[in-house]
Order: sequence, then structure tokens, then C-alpha cells
Amino acid sequence: MEFKKNLLFIGAGYVGGPSAAMMAYKCPQYRVVVVDINQERIAQWNSDKLPIYEPGLYEIVKETRGRNLFFSKDIEDNIRCAEIIFVGVNTPTKTFGEGAGMAADLQYWEKTARHIRQYAQSDKIVVEKCTLPVKTALAMEEIFNSSNGDIRFDVLSNPEFLAEGTAIKDLENPDRVLIGSRQTASGLRAREVLVEIYENWVPRERIITSDIWSSELSKLVANAFLAQRVSSINSISAFCEAAGADVSEVARAVGLDSRIGNKFLNAGVGFGGSCFQKDILNLVYLCRCYGLYEVADYWEGVVKINEYQKERFVLNMLRTMFNTLVGKKICMMGFAFKANTSDTRESPAIYVAKRLLEEMAELIITDPEALRSAEADMKEIGGNIRFVDDPYEAVQGCHAVCVMTEWELYSLLDYERIYKSMDKPAMIYDGRNILDHQKLFDIGFNVFPIGKPALRRER
Ligand code: UDX
Repeated sequence: MEFKKNLLFIGAGYVGGPSAAMMAYKCPQYRVVVVDINQERIAQWNSDKLPIYEPGLYEIVKETRGRNLFFSKDIEDNIRCAEIIFVGVNTPTKTFGEGAGMAADLQYWEKTARHIRQYAQSDKIVVEKCTLPVKTALAMEEIFNSSNGDIRFDVLSNPEFLAEGTAIKDLENPDRVLIGSRQTASGLRAREVLVEIYENWVPRERIITSDIWSSELSKLVANAFLAQRVSSINSISAFCEAAGADVSEVARAVGLDSRIGNKFLNAGVGFGGSCFQKDILNLVYLCRCYGLYEVADYWEGVVKINEYQKERFVLNMLRTMFNTLVGKKICMMGFAFKANTSDTRESPAIYVAKRLLEEMAELIITDPEALRSAEADMKEIGGNIRFVDDPYEAVQGCHAVCVMTEWELYSLLDYERIYKSMDKPAMIYDGRNILDHQKLFDIGFNVFPIGKPALRRER
């Protein structure tokens, strides 16, 4: 079959894989190829067990794979064939040199850019999908156009706003698609090519365009605002615990103001995921580079409150378990940074696990999808840890359970049975406020929610 366009995604991760699958699903007239330097990852995409867990993803991949969606190991040839190249490689926080711990590490993105330049034999539109510091596109254009004389490269910014766990829904029905381009004739032409692709399934009024720098910055700012909401409600959860108020009641009352809105106001053990912290630190770094110290400090506060929330959770466990955790068995329910994903990157569970181990507790970790990642995360750290699939088995003989991830499964468990199998007094720390606290208390547990009075038996 003759395809109308050849699209290439470089980077088969949480953004590249699902985005490519959705594009192939919605546009059977295009050939969509995904490549990655990690060959094993490509093999997994070609198997029945995809490398990431995302509701609805497997169904879409199954329908399109081999039809117009291909996962390939051949980067060179596919760069040659593609007219449009989407780049979704990782840009983690730099761990070395200038800006370590703050700035984005651009080595993978730059290597990809150099590959593209090396293998390209015809004009290309290169689309930034990953979150990048403002003005990265400009640097990339410089690399692209530094040789290959007559080949034209147009760089577009098209940040991906999908959230993990709801990626398919977000991709199918996005709030908006943002495309940033240069305002030159060729930049605007490239932009129209991308608009046309999205128009296959996204209403035109939701496809918005801007200059490249504003588009790049919008992605950082969207994540910073979202994280700020979580830190705001978490800061109030500390206040509620101190003052005897209920953070859910406060969130409900505040969220009903239509100017504020009711989403993203769930207090919890802290935000995680690959984006929030990395993007805010990047924003803070950029602000400092521009000499905007007050602005930098303001946004850094969002990350500081997140650290505070995680530490507060651990200290509350320590204090309420009679100031010693030595040899105590603690079951961590959930390890993923949020429900419906197997991703544990920056999960608050990692921090809590480390701290509990420092207090010499014994950990039993369970999670329906993220147990293998949890094992990998905890490998370096060591300590007394077991990984158990079945939650009922995991809680056996434990002194405490702490809910780290809001998997629906955990709110549906038989807590009478769990209570019976635990050591007494049995403690539950609900780091996501998903359990029926009164019911647990009536069963016999001591219950410690976030931002609400604890339900504790008289001593
Ligand atoms: C985020 C953005 O939502 C998405 O637009 C962007 O493309 C990538 O970063 P993601 O990291 O997948 O997506 O998850 P998100 O749903 O935003 O949650 C991030 C963290 O905040 C999770 O740890 C979650 O548990 C926490 N959170 C979220 C809360 O603690 N309370 C809330 O009310 C909402």
C-alpha cells in the first residue's frame, strides 16, 4: 500500500509509544514508525507484553501494528524515509557539572539531532515532543543547518500534555494541541503540515499555534501550575492536621469556586512522576539564569513543599508507632507514582521506602503493575525488603500498612481479613485518602489519613 506520509517517532517511551500508536490509529493513510536506541524496548513493543502499562494502549497497538504502525530497530533508514520526525527522547535533570540537580540534561536530544542531520537526504520537519528548556529549538536548528547545505530542516515545538494512566483518553480527546513554529514562510508551512495531521481527529479550534519559545515555555508552565496546585493543597493538609480540620472538606469548598475549579486538589503523600519535579527545577534554573531570583524562589517552594510532605508522612509514622520502627514490618500498598501506570519514576514511595529502611523497618512492597520497577528502584538501596504480588499475603503479620498509590483495588480489599492477619495494634496510613477511614476504625485499626484528624484508639 502507498502511504500518504511517512512519520517517524524517535524514542519509544511513555510519550513516543502511545502518541505514535494514536496517530497510526487515527490516520491509516500514514505510515508511522517508532525507533529507539534501546533494542530490547523495540522488541517489547513488538511483543504481546508492551514495555509500559497504559489502559487501552494494547488494543490500539494490536489493531495498528503491522498495518501502518511499525516498531523498528533501524534508525538510519527510517530517518531517511521520514518527512516528519517526532522526537520524544528523555531529558532528565542533569546530574553533573553546571546546573547539576536543576538543569535539563540535553545529551540524548542533541545526539538525536546529530543522527537526524547525519542520515537525512531530503528536507525534514523535526518536531520536539519532549519537554525542553526554552529556546532549545533554536540550538537544534543551528546543529541541523550547520552542514548538509541544501537540505532544509524546520523545527516545531509540539509539547505532549498527556498524563500517564489516562494517555489514550488524553491523546484521543486532548484539551488542546499546541504547535509552536518560527513565524517565517517556511516555519508556517511546516506548522500547517502538522496541523493537517492533527485535524484528522482533533477539532480545529483545539489546535492552537504560537511562536516556538512560547510553546516550549507553556509546557513547563502547565506542569509547574499543576504541581503548584498539589503542593498548595498538601501544605493545607499539614495545617488541617495541626488544627483539626478536614482537607477534603476544604478542597470541596474551595474547588466549587468556578475560578479555582475542583481538579487536582487531592492531598496526598506528594507528587511524583517524571515531569513535575524535573520541569520545575528546570524552570527555576532558567529563572536564575535570567537573574529572576524571586521568581525562581517562588517556584522552588513547590518542590520544597513536596519534599516536606513526604518527610512529614514518614515522621508521622515514626511518632505514632511509638518512636521506633526497628524490626517492624510495614506493608507499602502501591509503589507507582499514581494509579493505572507501571511507572515509578520519582514516586514518593521511593523516598518513603528509603526513609523507613533508615529507621530499620522491614518492608513488604506490593503493587499490581509496578512491582518489577519497584524491585529495580530498590536494588541499589538494599535492606530488608520483600516484593509480594498478592496484597493479602503482603500484609500478613505486619504492624502497619501505608497506602502509597491510589489503585482502586486497595479500596476494595477485605479489611476485616487484613486486620485479622496483622500484628496489633494495627496501623493504617492512608497516603492517598482512598479508604473508608471510619469503617477501618470500627474494624479495629488506628487510622492516619492525610489532612484529617487521626482515628486512634484511647491508650
Ligand atoms: C503530568 C501532567 O499532568 C501532564 O499534562 C504532563 O504531560 C506530564 O506530567 P503525569 O506525571 O503523568 O502527568 O501525572 P499527573 O496525573 O499529573 O500526576 C502527577 C503527580 O501528582 C502524581 O504523583 C499524582 O499522584 C499527584 N497528584 C495529582 C496529587 O497528589 N493530587 C492531585 O490532586 C493530582
